[in-house]
Order: sequence, then C-alpha cells, then structure tokens
Amino acid sequence: MTISSLMTDFPATFLLKGADVVLADGVRQVDVLVQDGKIGAIGPNFPAGTIPTLHLPGRIIFPGFIDCHTHFGIPIMNTTSADDFATGSMAAAWGGVTTIIDFTVQEQGQSPTEALAVRCQKAEICHIDYAIHVNITDRPEQHLAQIPNLIQRGFPSFKLFSTYRQAGMMASWPQFQQIMAVVGQHGGLVLLHAEDNDIVERETAKHLAAGHFEPIYHARSRPAEAEATAIRQAAQIAGQLNAPLYIVHLSSQAGLEAGLKARQQGVTIYLETCPHYLLLTEEKYRQPDGHHYITTPALRTQADVDALWQAVTAGDIDTIATDHCPFTLAQKELGNRQFQQTPNGLPGVATLFPLLYTYGVAAGKISLTDLVRLLAGNPARIFGLNHRKGQIAVGLDGDLVVWNPAGTTPLTAATIPGRADWSPFEGLPIAGQLEYTFLRGQCLARQGQFVGHHIRGELVESGKLQGANS
Ligand code: URP
Ligand code: ZN
Ligand code: ZN
Repeated sequence: MTISSLMTDFPATFLLKGADVVLADGVRQVDVLVQDGKIGAIGPNFPAGTIPTLHLPGRIIFPGFIDCHTHFGIPIMNTTSADDFATGSMAAAWGGVTTIIDFTVQEQGQSPTEALAVRCQKAEICHIDYAIHVNITDRPEQHLAQIPNLIQRGFPSFKLFSTYRQAGMMASWPQFQQIMAVVGQHGGLVLLHAEDNDIVERETAKHLAAGHFEPIYHARSRPAEAEATAIRQAAQIAGQLNAPLYIVHLSSQAGLEAGLKARQQGVTIYLETCPHYLLLTEEKYRQPDGHHYITTPALRTQADVDALWQAVTAGDIDTIATDHCPFTLAQKELGNRQFQQTPNGLPGVATLFPLLYTYGVAAGKISLTDLVRLLAGNPARIFGLNHRKGQIAVGLDGDLVVWNPAGTTPLTAATIPGRADWSPFEGLPIAGQLEYTFLRGQCLARQGQFVGHHIRGELVESGKLQGANS
C-alpha cells in the first residue's frame, strides 16, 4: 500500500523505501520500518506486503537532528527572546530538528531545582522532544548540594558564564571550580560561555568612553582574545580536576587554538560552534542593518571562519548548535542601534541542518556521516540522550528527516514558522528541500509546512554521558 506524498496523518506502522539512509557507520540504500514510534527494522528490500509504504527514490534519510543550544523565551535586556517553546519548536521541526536542549533561567533567589521546575512547565507546549541544561547564574556556591540529585534525575549538564557580570549571571573562577568539582565527581558536565569578563568590561568601557556605539564596536568590545583567555582558564581548572568541559558557541581561531591545546594536554574538552560563526563575518556589523547581527560572542573575521571550518573538517569540533535566541526586527530597534543596548541573539534553529547540508556536505567540506555526527550523534552521546536519539538504529525513537537534495532555492525567513521575522542567512542558496520531519513516527513537517500542531514533545531525561566520537 503506497502512502500518498500529501499524507500527514501517518499510521502507527509504515515503511520508508528506496532512499539513501545515513546510518552511524555509513550511507546505505536500505528500507526503514517505523513501528509504534520507534525504528522497528532496517534492511535492504524489506518486504512491504500490506505495510503502508512511502517511496523515496533519490531522497536522503537522516536521524532527527538535535539542537543542543537554544534559548526559547529568555529575558535579555528588558525584553524576551521572541520564540516560546511552541513557536521555536515549529521552526525547529520545519528544519529537521526533532530534539532541542534548552536552558533553565535562574531568577535571583531561586534555586536551580526551582528554576528547572519552572522551565519544565514552560516546555510542556513544545512540539518536539526536549532536554534541559541547568544554568547556574545566581550564587553558585550555595547550590552545590543540589547538583548530585539533579544529575541523578537526568539533568547532568550545568552551564556557567565567565561574563555578563553586570547582568548578575557571572561565575567567578573560584565559583566555577567549586561547581565543576561537584559536577565532575557525579558524572555530569559543565558547559561554559567563555569570555573573559575583565577584557570585555575594559574594552566596552574604552569604546563607550570614546563615543563609539556602532555595531562593529560589539566585536571590538568582545574580542577573540577574551574567548581564548576564558577557555585557557577553564581548561586549566578542568585539567586539575580531571573533569570534562564543554565550550558553547566557539567563535574564534584564538579560542579554537586554546581549546585544541588543552585537548592535546589531556583535558576532556568538547567544542561546539554555530552556523553563524561558520557563515558570517563581522563585516555584517558595518551594514546599515548591522545591529540585527548583534550576538554574543560577536561575529569574527574571515580568518576565524576559515579556521573553524578547517576544525569542523578535521573532526576537531564536536557539535554544531544554533544558540537560537531570536529577536524580531522591532525588538532589535529597542537599543537605538547602539551595540551595548541591542538585545543580543540570532534566530537559527530552523536553518541549522539546511545550512550545514548546503555549506558543509554539498560544498564538499564534510560527509553525510560527519553531518550526522555533529548534529545528532555527538549531541546525543555527550548529553546522554543516545538511549533514544541521535542515530537511525532499531529500538531508538522514530525521529527521521527526509531530504530531497535536488534543486537549489534561496533561504527566505518568510517561509519559516516561528516568531523570528528575519534571518541572518536570508537569500543564501540552499541545496535541496526538506520533505518530511517525523517525531517518534508522527509527521511534524511536510514539504515546507509545519503540520504538527497536535503533537506534543516529551522531556527526555539523560542517561550516562558517553562522550564524543570524532
Ligand atoms: O547573544 C546571545 N548569544 N544570546 C543568548 C545568550 C548566550 O549568551 O548564549
Ligand atoms: Zn552564551
Ligand atoms: Zn546561548
């Protein structure tokens, strides 16, 4: 029985036939049987018989992608990032992301456990599956006792900031060390937003005092050296404690070199970068709409972009995530176009996979299996979700993405669901089209339309952290 390409309400059991399937160890033309939300079988020429079958010649099937760094509805600079869990997950599904890992927002005086409960409740409207990293931004040393319990409950990743002091979010290095010691001892993982706050505050003050408010001074105020300095400091502590460290949104060659040096010295350090650091440069800040591109860390130079791509190709980068934190064009005007007052963050969850397919795989920089390792396998392994997510394998969740690599169309924000009314990647050619996104066997998106309004995501608790494959 053939499934029509117009169908969105899929039966509990169905077969995907005739496509190239990206498995963990290579690409094969095999059939994939989805059964009760799981991958039921994978094999060549599966006898379809009476099983409803979607014929997919010329298509590529990927595991659902994991964006392990999103910020849905977080407060920044007297406003809130535009997407909530419902609208952000619609954008995610449109682009083939079936699991996100978002962050708690710890209010002053709130414990991490309380913040987690609030965040889990907010996430209930999510249309895709989700996990949550625990941010520790308020009085880190007072919450050490909660960490083992949070890890045991399936929340093993804790994010600290070495900057944002004035926003009340910074952990000092002694606080970082205390948290990392406990997290590491109990099998968890510390994530770091790595920018040296002294450098950032000094450079920001210098440029503001000189009357420089233009967007390019965002990059000048938060130089690559701030990132590298913080990575060196954090890696030194991680080495002393023999605890793993995960650097979020790596943006620069200097930061990369600091991370790789630490790795050579035996530190377990995972490196995440983002599409905007691979595809955009600080020249964006010199455009008339330069303030739209304000995100932290700042966009860098072409040399940084080239170094990051080289690291991606070499297998030195572990994950690519988006740091999705969109502000609408109206919100981006709230800071009078001054860099230090403009809400920082970019939309990205929808465009993660289409961009990495086009500018990574189709451009010959990475293979299909590299793409899956960076956007699915490694996020699942590093954050302990691989008992359900991250690859196409029998028994795992039926999270699947069907991609048609034929044709090229320009990326247009107007076609992407969600509240972001612009894209930093507007107009970039995309090599192919997403035809289906399935979450646990349910059709979330089809032919560029989000169709999963009735579908609810599940919280995925982490198991043991497995580390990265390179
Ligand atoms: O500017 C950004 N990236 N905003 C989101 C918060 C963060 O620092 O990741
Ligand atoms: Zn950050
Ligand atoms: Zn972030």
